[in-house]
Amino acid sequence: MTPDFWIERWQKGEIGFHQAAGNDLLAMHWPSLGLAPGSTVFVPLCGKSLDMAWLAGQGHRVIGVELSPLAVDDFFREHGLEAETRTAGSFTVRAAGPIEIWCGDIFELPGDALRDVAAVYDRAALVALPPSLQVRYAEALHRVLPRAAPIFLISLSYPDGQLAGPPFSTPLSAVAALFGATHAIDIRETRDGLEKSPNLRDRGVTALDEAVYVLRRKAG
Ligand SMILES: C[S@@+](CC[C@H](N)C(=O)[O-])C[C@H]1O[C@@H](n2cnc3c(N)ncnc32)[C@H](O)[C@@H]1O
Repeated sequence: MTPDFWIERWQKGEIGFHQAAGNDLLAMHWPSLGLAPGSTVFVPLCGKSLDMAWLAGQGHRVIGVELSPLAVDDFFREHGLEAETRTAGSFTVRAAGPIEIWCGDIFELPGDALRDVAAVYDRAALVALPPSLQVRYAEALHRVLPRAAPIFLISLSYPDGQLAGPPFSTPLSAVAALFGATHAIDIRETRDGLEKSPNLRDRGVTALDEAVYVLRRKAG
């Protein structure tokens, strides 16, 4: 899965993953993290997710990272926000109020970009990546995140072979293989997600499980 794949999807408007309303699992389970007001949330592979505005509305600073400049422009325009632009290494960073989005490849994020992050919100980020990149993603988070930052992960899984991802089926066993050695995995909810994902049903998926995990670094 090359960057061009995603850049083209945004150019062609093939963004069936984008949710027109905020994510209900986020609203339901996020408050239990008990983060301090004003703390910073990292949103990897953020697209133009409305959840960034929701998190800002909860009093957080938000740092997103996204490959597609179109997605980043859309986000600020659709929220009526005038964004300032700066560069940081290979990234163009656009910022308005408490939200900044780093436009570029997450695997090139400078080590210190996330040093103040208190938590991660991953919806449709891990599952957007094929298994080999999922390993790199887990390693990258491990490398750049402060130890205390939990990862709030919404994952999905479907029967083997029903779809050539993305999204890639990522059941608990895969989450455990990626994070289990370093993180305790708290399962907050699992539910049937097919009804809320008509685009996947139309692509041939017959059963879809959605799960919310909170991953916290183990001591040591
Ligand atoms: C499935 S979408 C999910 C977007 C968002 N999380 C949401 O819930 O709507 C995955 C997003 O990741 C972006 N992306 C893919 N690979 C990336 C990378 N290596 N670095 C930064 N963004 C990436 C894509 O452009 C796309 O917008």
